[in-house]
Amino acid sequence: MTGKMLVFLGSERVSGPPRPARLGERVSAACMTRLAGKDVDAALIDPVDIDLPHPFKPHFAYSKGKAPEAMERLAEEIESADGYVMVSPEYNHMMSPALSDLLNHFGSSLFSYKPSAIVTYSAGQWGGTRAAVGMRTFLSELGCLPVSAMIHVPHAQDVFAEDGGYLDGVDGERWDGYLDRTFDQLCWWAKAAAHARHEDGARPGAFIINPSERDAPKS
Ligand SMILES: Cc1cc2nc3c(=O)[nH]c(=O)nc-3n(C[C@H](O)[C@H](O)[C@H](O)COP(=O)(O)O)c2cc1C
Repeated sequence: MTGKMLVFLGSERVSGPPRPARLGERVSAACMTRLAGKDVDAALIDPVDIDLPHPFKPHFAYSKGKAPEAMERLAEEIESADGYVMVSPEYNHMMSPALSDLLNHFGSSLFSYKPSAIVTYSAGQWGGTRAAVGMRTFLSELGCLPVSAMIHVPHAQDVFAEDGGYLDGVDGERWDGYLDRTFDQLCWWAKAAAHARHEDGARPGAFIINPSERDAPKS
């Protein structure tokens, strides 16, 4: 049993240019299909559906249970998940601002001691690899350590149809194998981490204490 995965769709862009807009829908649909094919229970998290408060006020800045309903619900989903798939386009060589903004609304205690998988894509030839480098740092700081394998999809519009299926002429078997390398690592770590969390109960406190308590001792 792998438990529950959340697939974050890292794009809010609904109009072009550049076209096609919201390639992320196709990439995250492909991830959902592949996970379903492996009997993994996965839910899609779409930032367009989540009404975040403005100005910025993260979930952890509210008193317990007082955050807006949508935020509270997502916090519960994040906390109860066993792992995460972070799907991001590359915008100016960085991860998507829609994804980092959404994730910044939630504290690391909700994500920590669970694995994540990095999935990047682009309309061009690099497949979001430059964004992926920064995502490793970002996700590590959140406490959901990224597995070593990553998925990068260059020219995603030539690989996936709108429903996430493979376009004609694409070698789906090879792509499935490529996706599996990352998802199999994710599932292995999710299972191992869930076992460790449920076995001991208590987690080391590194992610749940005042940030200043993480400082190195003063000499
Ligand atoms: C603001 C912006 C910046 C972009 N920067 C890059 C980039 O640095 N590297 C890249 O390969 N593609 C870049 N692109 C092209 C995207 O790969 C392409 O538009 C893709 O469809 C974006 O994903 P989305 O449609 O899901 O939003 C950029 C697109 C936008 C809108």
